[in-house]
Amino acid sequence: MLSVKNLMRRVAARFGYEISVNTTPRSDGDGTFEHAREMVSGATMLPRKRLVSLYDQVVYCNAIGLQGSMVECGVWKGGAVGLMALALKSTGGPLRDLHLFDSFQGICEPDPAVDGELAIKEVGYRPDLSDGVIKAVKGIYDPLGGHGTVAESKALIEQRIGYPSARVHYHVGWFQDTVPVARDQIGPIALLRLDGDWYASTKVCLDNLYDLVVPGGFIILDDYGTYEGCRKATDEFLLGRGIQAYLHTVDRGCYYLIKPE
Ligand SMILES: C[S@@+](CC[C@H](N)C(=O)[O-])C[C@H]1O[C@@H](n2cnc3c(N)ncnc32)[C@H](O)[C@@H]1O
Repeated sequence: MLSVKNLMRRVAARFGYEISVNTTPRSDGDGTFEHAREMVSGATMLPRKRLVSLYDQVVYCNAIGLQGSMVECGVWKGGAVGLMALALKSTGGPLRDLHLFDSFQGICEPDPAVDGELAIKEVGYRPDLSDGVIKAVKGIYDPLGGHGTVAESKALIEQRIGYPSARVHYHVGWFQDTVPVARDQIGPIALLRLDGDWYASTKVCLDNLYDLVVPGGFIILDDYGTYEGCRKATDEFLLGRGIQAYLHTVDRGCYYLIKPE
């Protein structure tokens, strides 16, 4: 079916005009991105390429007026969300709700049955999941300054960046507990960033939040190329739902897809 947007484009074309949306990436050229990156450095583990891609995606969402909030599952010290806040502010366009999901006590233990050798090697032991209780891996973020806290995200996003507090929502706890509850409360999503590394963490987010992403919205899988569990959860989800979407590569670890109509 011909959308109103396409109809307008065709009418304009008949009269020799072209309607286009200004989606010029802001990450190269005017220094806005570099300034944003400096502000969030130390509060994010993301390498430059992932930050560039994220910044441009957020700017693009405002440029085309995509509806919805920005959500990150796995925020650590809030640097990636801080970058999103700065990208939104840079457009002069609407500020959106930001949803931050994290245990704020560190990553949970991987499951040796689905998360693969690299995950187990990185946490340094074979977790015992026999009691079914989700436990934080101790000390894994110590070399980077420890696990993230709500206070650190608040200090960065609300105080240093000056994003309005009423627009920043903290969902504190394991995704397995917080995401299914939030699903009925947070409304449409323009950009969903999943950065929880493991199978169960990725699965619960896709199962509950994918449907909230608007068509044309972004779903970023920070660990798809790195951890078996994230890849398995994503592949199973897409296959199980019959979703055909190209997985774009940001770098060897990070991938994203654009939600099909
Ligand atoms: C790799 S870090 C996120 C990095 C962050 N996006 C950045 O900009 O640097 C992973 C984060 O996910 C959180 N996390 C992982 N699994 C989780 C789960 N199942 N529930 C809640 N938080 C989780 C950890 O606490 C940690 O802060």
